[in-house]
Amino acid sequence: MARERTFVMAKPDAVQRGLIGEIVSRIEERGLKLVGGKFMQIDDELARDHYGEHVDKPFFDDLTTFITSGPVFAMVWEGQDATRQVRQMMGETDPADAAPGTIRGDYALDLGRNVIHGSDHEDPGANEREIDLFFDEEELLDYERIDGEWLY
Ligand code: TYD
Ligand code: MG
Repeated sequence: MARERTFVMAKPDAVQRGLIGEIVSRIEERGLKLVGGKFMQIDDELARDHYGEHVDKPFFDDLTTFITSGPVFAMVWEGQDATRQVRQMMGETDPADAAPGTIRGDYALDLGRNVIHGSDHEDPGANEREIDLFFDEEELLDYERIDGEWLY
C-alpha cells in the first residue's frame, strides 16, 4: 500500500464537546503523520462544495446547516493506506451501526451529529479533492519524522 494523504475533520459537535484532542490523539497514536491542521469556520459555499455529492439528498440542507454551525478542526494526515485506515477508525456513518472502539462508535449517537469526517476510500481522488478544497499547498508541511523507519 502506498503512502498517501487524507482529509479529516472534527465536526462542529466534536469541537463543542471538547473532542478535538481525542480525535487527533487516536489518529496520531495509530501512526499516521499530521501534515496540516486548521481551526476554521466553514461558509455555505465551502459546505456545498465539500458535500456536493449529496446535493440531491433529503438530508443535504440539514448537513450544510450543521457543518457551518460552528468551528471545525480540519486536518491532513499522511501514511500508508491513510484514507482507508482513518475510515476504519471512524466506524460506520450511522453511529448506531458503528462498532465500539471506533470514533463514532465511542462518541456519537446520532447520524446527523457523527463527530468526524474522513475522505471516502471508495471514491478515488476524494482525498486529494478535499485536501485541495480546504488547504493551500504551503499549509501542508513536508517533514521527516524520526520514527520514519518504524511507522509506515
Ligand atoms: P456520507 O458521505 O454518506 O457519510 P460519511 O460521513 O461516513 O462519509 O454522508 C455525509 C454525512 O451526511 C454523514 O456523515 C452524516 C450525514 N448523513 C445524514 O445526515 N443522513 C443520511 O442518511 C446520510 C447517509 C448521511
Ligand atoms: Mg462521505
